Amino acid sequence: MLPKVLLSLGLVLWMSNHAVTLTEDLMDRALRLMSETPLIDGHNDLPWQLRKQFNNELNKVDLHTLETTHTNIPKIKHGRLGAQFWSAYVPCDTQKKDAVRQTLEQIDVVHRMCKKYPETFRFARTAEEILAAFRSNRTASLIGVEGGHSLDSSLGTLRVMYDLGVRYLTLTHSCNTPWADNWLVDTGSEPSEHNGLSSFGKQLIVEMNRLGMLIDLAHVTVKVMNQVLDMSAAPVIFSHSSAYSVCPHKRNVPDDVLKRVKEKKGIVMVNFYNDYVTCSKTANLSDVADHFDHIKKVAGADIIGFGGDYDGVTRLPENLEDVSKVPNLVAELLRRGWTDQEVKLALGDNLLRVMKDMERVRDSLNAKVPDDVPIPYEAVQNECRTSHGYNLNNAGAVHPLSTLALLLTLALQTFAKITV
Ligand SMILES: *[C@@H]1O[C@H](CO)[C@@H](O)[C@H](O)[C@H]1NC(C)=O
Ligand SMILES: *[C@@H]1O[C@H](CO)[C@@H](O)[C@H](O)[C@H]1NC(C)=O
Ligand SMILES: [Zn+2]
Repeated sequence: MLPKVLLSLGLVLWMSNHAVTLTEDLMDRALRLMSETPLIDGHNDLPWQLRKQFNNELNKVDLHTLETTHTNIPKIKHGRLGAQFWSAYVPCDTQKKDAVRQTLEQIDVVHRMCKKYPETFRFARTAEEILAAFRSNRTASLIGVEGGHSLDSSLGTLRVMYDLGVRYLTLTHSCNTPWADNWLVDTGSEPSEHNGLSSFGKQLIVEMNRLGMLIDLAHVTVKVMNQVLDMSAAPVIFSHSSAYSVCPHKRNVPDDVLKRVKEKKGIVMVNFYNDYVTCSKTANLSDVADHFDHIKKVAGADIIGFGGDYDGVTRLPENLEDVSKVPNLVAELLRRGWTDQEVKLALGDNLLRVMKDMERVRDSLNAKVPDDVPIPYEAVQNECRTSHGYNLNNAGAVHPLSTLALLLTLALQTFAKITV
């Protein structure tokens, strides 16, 4: 009897020791995978914090020591952040006001950040540039514009932003644009204005395919998600959204859309915001991993990515509180039986594939001319917008003097003909 008890005790001790070793192994394995494949995160709002806390005076900021954000250089190094889409976000209250200027300033602050800390960041615009930055031990830095209001309904503005390095556009933030409905329409708190995308909205999708800019469906209505999935020639992304079946929040992605993203070879980059993870104020690592497991079960490991939403949200899960903590989540996926291959897909291989596919679509369309048909004036008429260039029927109201001059000339000519 006694030896048996001792034996069991020994077994328990051996097992608990072994469990500790296993946990350490998981973290070692996570870090090894992260050294082989870049962790590419879809959405980080550090640029918005730079505006909010410092009015973009980067000279007054030291990213080595900044402690009022989820993101700083030591945290980035500790978290093995391989590549980041920095969000050029400006709030919806800038719509029809100074959204374009403020967005340009957010793009500028990302470029200045990369120049100020060249040992940490390297600006990137292509899949190849992401890999080159990763190989040189820098965080590849890309830009995504969050919200179509940032374009002021202008294809010219879209193209110029592309030239400034912008590689995704989230079609809406939390407001309708003059050409697309946002997710709040699905909650019933805002009316639909376009039943999805307007015809200008569809022009924009085609132009983004031609340019080689990713279409981000985080923040839009389910109707818009499906319209874009119907018509985009390139894979689509959700830069920071989680699974609706796990937490039924309208910012999350329903299962039928997950399956369509798979058909389209796109990606859903999981958001860590507690409210989207558990539909409550609190969450933990395991709750976030449930979203990864669910998306894998419904659509496979090759549509999953990371889209933490750091510095854009106020509540984050236990053990995932800032960008330094992401390796914990990678270890948790390994603990749940994810293979090295599956983890690498989620870390960065999926996003790299999406980006390369998008670049191929762009190259295949390079004979196409830019779309220069502007949005109808009626769709954007407001007191802060002039109508230069629009040949309106009621031209008299727009150019009273020149119309008067034209009428006078015609009258004089008529008079001249009669008298001759
Ligand atoms: C990468 O950069 C970090 C921090 O700058 C440094 O500690 C590390 O040694 C570097 N690794 C390589 C392989 O250069
Ligand atoms: C995480 O939170 C969930 C509830 O959201 C709870 O059921 C679970 O036990 C927690 N897991 C850990 C590891 O704390
Ligand atoms: Zn967002």
